[in-house]
Amino acid sequence: MKIEDLSINTGANKQVLQAASLVCPLLLHPSPATSFHSPPTMAAAAASAGTIRQAEEVNKEIQEYYHDTTSLTWEKMWGDHVHTGFYDPGVTAPSPAENRAALVRTVEEALRFAGISDDPEKRPKRIVDVGCGIGGSSFYLAKRYGAQCDGININPTQIERARARAAAEGLEDKVNFHLGDAMQQPFPDGHFDLVWCMDVIDHMTDREKFFRELVRVAAPGATIIITSVCRRDPEEKPFTPDEVVLLKRICEGLHHASWFTVPGYINIAESLPLKDIKTADWSENIIPFWQTALQTAMSLEGSTILLESAGMALIKAVLTAPTIVESLKNKLINYSIITFRKL
Ligand SMILES: C[S@@+](CC[C@H](N)C(=O)[O-])C[C@H]1O[C@@H](n2cnc3c(N)ncnc32)[C@H](O)[C@@H]1O
Repeated sequence: MKIEDLSINTGANKQVLQAASLVCPLLLHPSPATSFHSPPTMAAAAASAGTIRQAEEVNKEIQEYYHDTTSLTWEKMWGDHVHTGFYDPGVTAPSPAENRAALVRTVEEALRFAGISDDPEKRPKRIVDVGCGIGGSSFYLAKRYGAQCDGININPTQIERARARAAAEGLEDKVNFHLGDAMQQPFPDGHFDLVWCMDVIDHMTDREKFFRELVRVAAPGATIIITSVCRRDPEEKPFTPDEVVLLKRICEGLHHASWFTVPGYINIAESLPLKDIKTADWSENIIPFWQTALQTAMSLEGSTILLESAGMALIKAVLTAPTIVESLKNKLINYSIITFRKL
């Protein structure tokens, strides 16, 4: 594979990619399995398009991906929200400062979409932030609603960082961070009136089980909010062999467990005690984030931070950005929000 294949053409970008290739030659010279030039057969395409990876493998990658250097690298560049930023469609070349604001806007748009009330009588009082990263959403939600917020995360370094930030912000009495697996949460049944799960579900190897856990901890009438990077529904249009290669590259680049679809989530939701299922496709809204994320990483400051302190896993994710942008534009994948209320 040539550097040009990554769709990044400026001289500065090439320098950074060349530097990255010194750190991780496999990124620029991937094995045949991840190359565009050895397409699988149609049968293999159908079989592998949803690729389900082993929990141990994914969780090990998550430890590395969100390990201290990765986590702190992200924090230095984009602050305490470890998800994708929301823009009006068509925005081009936003600045890094705008990208930080866009990350907060994603939280605000999700709350608006789900119809969460600011009315002191109706607003959430007990919130769980499932897969809480370094606590960005927990802090925002606790402050906005004056709510008690519990964050859970499988990554000890991020939990430590979230606790340190809580202390620094004087929010220790409002937010609690728990080290644990979101598949088996240490919370009682029916405890939370808002279950918040932003950009986490794609790391789960068993989505149905995970869904049941989200519903278990939700109180009757609680709202559940998830966001997910989904693939196109193959019922709509089967994948070509090239598309299968792209899906595999993105799934591995983002350290996701497998691919899922919006209709797949709706099917699961319909089998559980949930109502008011709402979905929206936010792909157009996050494309500028991925474009800017890449530009920031490729800037002198960004590439210095990346090369000095980022783990291999984050560099791999950043280098997947052009493929993600193209696949969002071509509707091979979509970024969707799905909200429900518990009966
Ligand atoms: C993309 S980050 C999103 C972080 C946070 N939700 C936010 O919006 O800032 C995904 C997070 O999910 C966490 N995670 C992944 N698998 C998990 C699991 N099985 N249990 C708990 N947390 C998990 C990761 O450690 C990481 O913090």
